[in-house]
Amino acid sequence: MKGVPAASDQEDLHAGLLVLRRHSLVLIDRIRQFFKRLRRVRPEYKVEVIQKYLTEQQRSLFDAMPLALQNHSVKVLETLVRQGHTDRDLLSAALLHDVGKPQTNLPLCYGVLFVLFERFFPSVLRRIASPQPGKWRYVLYGYLHHSEIGAELLANANGSQELVELVRMHHEQPNSEKQRALFFADRMN
Ligand SMILES: [Fe+2]
Repeated sequence: MKGVPAASDQEDLHAGLLVLRRHSLVLIDRIRQFFKRLRRVRPEYKVEVIQKYLTEQQRSLFDAMPLALQNHSVKVLETLVRQGHTDRDLLSAALLHDVGKPQTNLPLCYGVLFVLFERFFPSVLRRIASPQPGKWRYVLYGYLHHSEIGAELLANANGSQELVELVRMHHEQPNSEKQRALFFADRMN
């Protein structure tokens, strides 16, 4: 009948709205995360936790991270401590999970752009990324592979096997209590 959408059209519309809703929620979550990262971390707290949970070698890796990432990492640790976690490898992983992200002066908003592209156009991002250091496309490559790069850096800096694995797996489906704790604390911050 003219003017009345067929049942299949209504189903398509409903499915489309569900997809749109899911993407909007992810977008809102990412924007919220972006603004959360602007919140400052108390410098004394940062010094305190770095000294408490990182070895000398790990500290130089932490110091080499951009300030925004350092702050994000301290907030992830803060969340875990608030939740009652005391495991040293887990708390060190909180501080070092993003240590493999490429050194870049790009502003934080590019990080948000990467996240959005990864979510909505992952194949485009993977096609542009290049493993050749020095190229701007390497930033994308480093971003996409930062878990493995970070795990490698920590293995070379004498990190424990558990710390290395926590960092390697921090964007994967968690399959242990500690991985789950890190995964969600990272998402919350
Ligand atoms: Fe990460």
